[in-house]
Amino acid sequence: MTATVTTDRLTVTTDRLTRVPGLLYGGDWNPEQWPEQVWAEDVKLMAEAGVNLVTVGVFSWARLQPDADSWDFGWLDRLLDLCHRHGVAVDLATATASPPAWLVRAHPDLLPVTADGVRLEFGSRQHYCPSSPAYREAAVRLTRALAERYRHHPALALWHIHNEYGDHVQECFCPASAVDFRRWLRERHGGIEELNRSWGTAFWSQRYTSFEQIEPPRTAPGPVNPTQLLDWRRFCSDALLALHRAEKAVLDEVSPGVPVTTNFMSMLKALDYWEWSRHEDLVSDDAYPDPADPRAHVNAAMNYDLMRSLKGGRPWLLMEQAPSAVSWRPVNVPKRPGLYRLWSLQALARGADGVLHFQWRASVAGAEKFHSAMLPHRGTAARGWQETVRFGAELRRLGEIAGSRLRGRAAVLLDWDSWWALELDDHPSARMRWPELLRPWYAALHERGVTVDFVPPTAGLDGYPLVLAPNLYLLDTATADRLTAYVRDGGRLVCGPFSGIADRHDHIHPGGHPGPLRELLGIVVDEHWPIPDGTTTAVRLDGAAPDSPRSDGTEPHAERWSEWIETEGAETLARYASGTLAGLPAVTRNRLGAGTAWYLSCHLGADTGRVLDLPLAEAGVGAELPDLPADVEVTRRHAADGRQYLFLLNHGGVERRVPLDTPGTDLLTGAATGDAVTLAPLGAAVLRLPAAEERP
Ligand code: GLA
Repeated sequence: MTATVTTDRLTVTTDRLTRVPGLLYGGDWNPEQWPEQVWAEDVKLMAEAGVNLVTVGVFSWARLQPDADSWDFGWLDRLLDLCHRHGVAVDLATATASPPAWLVRAHPDLLPVTADGVRLEFGSRQHYCPSSPAYREAAVRLTRALAERYRHHPALALWHIHNEYGDHVQECFCPASAVDFRRWLRERHGGIEELNRSWGTAFWSQRYTSFEQIEPPRTAPGPVNPTQLLDWRRFCSDALLALHRAEKAVLDEVSPGVPVTTNFMSMLKALDYWEWSRHEDLVSDDAYPDPADPRAHVNAAMNYDLMRSLKGGRPWLLMEQAPSAVSWRPVNVPKRPGLYRLWSLQALARGADGVLHFQWRASVAGAEKFHSAMLPHRGTAARGWQETVRFGAELRRLGEIAGSRLRGRAAVLLDWDSWWALELDDHPSARMRWPELLRPWYAALHERGVTVDFVPPTAGLDGYPLVLAPNLYLLDTATADRLTAYVRDGGRLVCGPFSGIADRHDHIHPGGHPGPLRELLGIVVDEHWPIPDGTTTAVRLDGAAPDSPRSDGTEPHAERWSEWIETEGAETLARYASGTLAGLPAVTRNRLGAGTAWYLSCHLGADTGRVLDLPLAEAGVGAELPDLPADVEVTRRHAADGRQYLFLLNHGGVERRVPLDTPGTDLLTGAATGDAVTLAPLGAAVLRLPAAEERP
């Protein structure tokens, strides 16, 4: 069902975020930190900046509910009325992320407890145990009160549940959590014997004879049972999701038709966002790339691709970004002139239909008083304010891109279960961390101008000529069968090292790694061969003879990880060229049915692209635009009417000339292009390209 909500100035639908005026622009507004006279200035300035959506009430619980039996909605009534009068739509928060002091003192056991048994104090935010009945009951009550009061308010465009689930507190080890964990385990495993089998409790005399004997994995003398830890990760994601679903159920019941979101935190280990996004009407994300990191935009692109992919390519919303510096890094570097605009456009380039910020007006008190805002402390004379106004105007020129979509040319498999299991302790190497394995693969694709979608292991892969799996440590046979069928039917799969190792209980697949991928990849792993920190192993790409393994220094180099593998039908495309494994296969290709499956037995870091070029070429997967200069990011959004929007973003410090295959119109300047576009340092162009049938 597509729900539509109209305010004076925009229509928000669950299917398409905006229709009029196009893209969403605004930020978190914390008016309770200010006297009401300031609000009047706020809405006036919002109009000047083109702000059309504000997030209100995120941390207002203590103000809305001064004690258990009284409510104070008057100020919020006046605020929403003010917003409506000034044509600003409201993303209304359920305000449940920061329980008030009176609630905490009445129910001290709702405060979270660490693995070491320390109960965390009141005085910050997100201080709640996900499994606390008292917290849940109070949160649901507040959500219901807000929903009943504001469901018909004309300013209401979107519900914003809670704030950044998983921020600060991702798990709690208190007795209430133990009870909830046991309930969850019973549901998952059925009986205690099933649990014993799943957890492999024959090891180290860990056998349980009743669920009551099980506790959360608190700090123990030595390594804790890995399957217990894996189930704990699953449970913690589910426990927070249960809270979210409880609030969502109230909103759906009381305020049907108003879309609901909660702000995700990019690629976050703690929460299985595939599962979470099923419960969102639209996906929204908070993103804080570090201006001090010259490659931060690559990571940002990766996160934005994930956000777009979570609901199959539907537009998403950048719910928070910093207009300039944040306040929570050890050193908080501001965004140099042009960077804010470029990074904002990047979110749109990767499928967002709006750009919002933390926050509208800079706070003068509290832990975030040095955090940048759309309206800085200095007021309208500040550089930051000028950028806010300028970008608001530019966003209005881009309105027509709302609702258009990107299509990935290849798919990247991402599985939270496998991520959690991969990073458990006591593995051959502690250096095999999912984000660090994924990043060089993604960076190689980004550098080559290849747009990718992320897909869950359960996804249908048919539309993709190429599927990349940088790591699939945990892999059940059903997923392996799906991958095998995809390749047999003509697909191309590239699989990274340390894959196909364990089943969903984190038990090793017997009979040699990579377990259920062995036939598909045509190889067997004899032994894992992690590479010590600070050293590398050369890899010769040409498949040189095993007896000439000398390295001349120009080969790709593996770091962190290598494997002693033997082929079982696969051909060898690259061999190790130094170290103990010299001469043994490093990269292989196996033909199966109509397709091919590649295996990278090592982690190639910055050299990953030199190997990925081979399957990319074989699959015919290329850049959105040929002859892309260095540092230029390119993406293409497709509108339903066949028009395309080409985003060209220059992340580098020198001017770049980008040759075009089709002339278009730059929506930012209104100018028609010739056969090329010149981008200033940190410059950008958003080109409208006519539909194919309209092209000369
Ligand atoms: C997060 C939170 C905000 C704020 C910002 C600061 O995104 O959701 O409330 O703390 O960080 O960067």
